[in-house]
Amino acid sequence: MPENKKPIIAPSLLAANFADLKSELKLCDGSKAEWLHLDIMDQQFVPNLSFGPSIVKAIRPHSNLFFDVHLMVSNPFDMLPAFIDAGADAISFHIETTEPRFTFPPKILINMIKKNNLRCGIAIKPKTPFKVIEKYLSFIDYVVIMSVEPGFGGQSFIPSTLEKISSIDTILKEKNLRDKIAIQVDGGIKLHNAKEIIDAGADILVAGSEVFKSENPTETINKMYNL
Ligand code: DX5
Ligand code: ZN
Repeated sequence: MPENKKPIIAPSLLAANFADLKSELKLCDGSKAEWLHLDIMDQQFVPNLSFGPSIVKAIRPHSNLFFDVHLMVSNPFDMLPAFIDAGADAISFHIETTEPRFTFPPKILINMIKKNNLRCGIAIKPKTPFKVIEKYLSFIDYVVIMSVEPGFGGQSFIPSTLEKISSIDTILKEKNLRDKIAIQVDGGIKLHNAKEIIDAGADILVAGSEVFKSENPTETINKMYNL
């Protein structure tokens, strides 16, 4: 990321207090956060279950943040309409759910998301090489680089992700796509490592436990933004 460009902070609701989502949203809305990251898990693609479109729809009127839905589900295609209807502004799906099986070719998912005027992202797991999504780059708005194995909040950042981010940053620059495609990094981002992740090339930082388990989530978001 160029010097002095500020990152987009995307608090991940997965780590919030589910019994008091309205207050948690208020803390985010009153901060420098611009996106709200919504982790959707189906206990198939990942070994955990989170929440579905009815929760997203219920909280939509209580926040002005940009709603960023991260689909960690084995059948993203069937779930798209419900999340579009629930008020998502952006949706990412995992390439591992499409290739090599191609039950739903990525292009079909991308078209469905873009046709509804949402931003579209493709997510890759830590062991998935970036080259598998290169052929879709001209159709999408952001890539989600997983820096933990998807499924749970509160895990440690995988250090080799830093190299992955900078090589993706370089590839995007070489392809003249750097202004068009944002790099989102998801998992294990804390105040102590956020700066090096930004310096490696991240534009959007997803942070769950660091934000919501802190004493003052608004302040933690603002600190991360101002690093
Ligand atoms: C992991 C999720 C992440 C998670 C991040 O499967 O995709 O978005 O909520 O949480 P932390 O910041 O606690 O690693
Ligand atoms: Zn996520």
